[in-house]
Amino acid sequence: MVVGAQWGDEGKGKIVDVLAEGADLVVRYQGGANAGHTVVKGDEEFILHQIPSGILHPGTRCVIGNGVVLDPETLLSEMDDLERRGVTVAGRLIVSLRAHLVLPYHKLLDQAAEREQRIGTTGRGIGPAYEDKYGRRGIRVADLRDLSRTLERIGERVERANRLLSLMGSSLRASVEEHCDLLRRLAPRLMPMAADTSRITYDALREGKKVLLEGAQGALLDVDHGTYPFVTSSNTTAGGAAVGAGIGPTAIDAVLGVVKAYTTRVGNGPLPTEADPQEAARLRELGEEYGATTGRPRRCGWFDAVVVRYAARVNGLTDLAVTKLDVLDTIERIPVCVAYRIGDEIVEDMPADSALLDSAEPVYEELDGWCRPTGDARRLADLPPQARAYLDRIQDLVQVPIRYVSVGSRRSQIIG
Ligand code: IMP
Repeated sequence: MVVGAQWGDEGKGKIVDVLAEGADLVVRYQGGANAGHTVVKGDEEFILHQIPSGILHPGTRCVIGNGVVLDPETLLSEMDDLERRGVTVAGRLIVSLRAHLVLPYHKLLDQAAEREQRIGTTGRGIGPAYEDKYGRRGIRVADLRDLSRTLERIGERVERANRLLSLMGSSLRASVEEHCDLLRRLAPRLMPMAADTSRITYDALREGKKVLLEGAQGALLDVDHGTYPFVTSSNTTAGGAAVGAGIGPTAIDAVLGVVKAYTTRVGNGPLPTEADPQEAARLRELGEEYGATTGRPRRCGWFDAVVVRYAARVNGLTDLAVTKLDVLDTIERIPVCVAYRIGDEIVEDMPADSALLDSAEPVYEELDGWCRPTGDARRLADLPPQARAYLDRIQDLVQVPIRYVSVGSRRSQIIG
């Protein structure tokens, strides 16, 4: 399993792409088109929102599991785009019959809720779609089998959404007609790809095939374990994978946590190690830190060992992948947060209360930078001693072995 161990955007897309080489099946199990997994193949860049990153390896089958909220329009346009660019998707992508659909009215509700809550969501309808799921009124892929029955139900859902929009003081309105047209158009394309993906994954595991679970977002955006309420609406941590893929936890034998060599966050909420505006701007430019889904500038700061230690605990991380080490190549002294000062106390554990976290001041240790390019390193021994010391310190603080180090966006730019 590959999970994000910060606030998302850790570079999971690249790591999954590298690992997918040896995988028979790549399964996405939570989140939806809020994700933006960037993969660079040769000179081409692919940004995948809905389709698992494994799709770029011709021998790998990909699954969108039951825990994903599926945006059918994004899915189909992503499929068409991949096919246009020479990537065969047909026959290689399987969608769970149990996955819930994200419909246009969910996006309107997301936009309207943002006006009050100001979470800084991606606007992709994720929260409202999960609300419908847990409120037991969602529309699932399986519902497209009996399209006429679903078309009868959709009117009631859209009208309910319109009542909510009006209560929220929004002038946005969803159209029943638009939803019916959409479902009529989607059903014939989606149904041939739909199956019981839990069964497919189970069978693959029993046959000894390699299955890779691809997480989206990161531990601190988990609805239970993240910086609530500034989180996404799914379980991004490892436990979510068993539920969202429909497999038992005993099937999972390794959990790789992906972290950036520094920290970023998109959207609102606490970010204790956020750098001052000038340093943040420097990291943003060096790391090209703009959201892959929304284009928003990411907030940037230093590596936070409290965050990653916590992520290691709640995920049961067995290994770490550190990405974007090369972004720090020109920084002379690199702060690393080892604990927080909250009031008079030094705290080494993540507080549950976002307000407390807001008041946390990072306790920094400063490490020497290496001031040399690292993009060509292919073995740890190729790295400057200061870069190795930086990685060693991260490993010590987090108490999880570093298995991979990424030093650039290309597939080949990896140590491990
Ligand atoms: P939502 O998932 O669109 O509801 O957004 C909730 C929060 O999660 C916001 O702060 C988003 O910026 C953040 N978020 C959602 N998906 C991603 C992602 O893939 N990368 C980084 N942040 C994300």
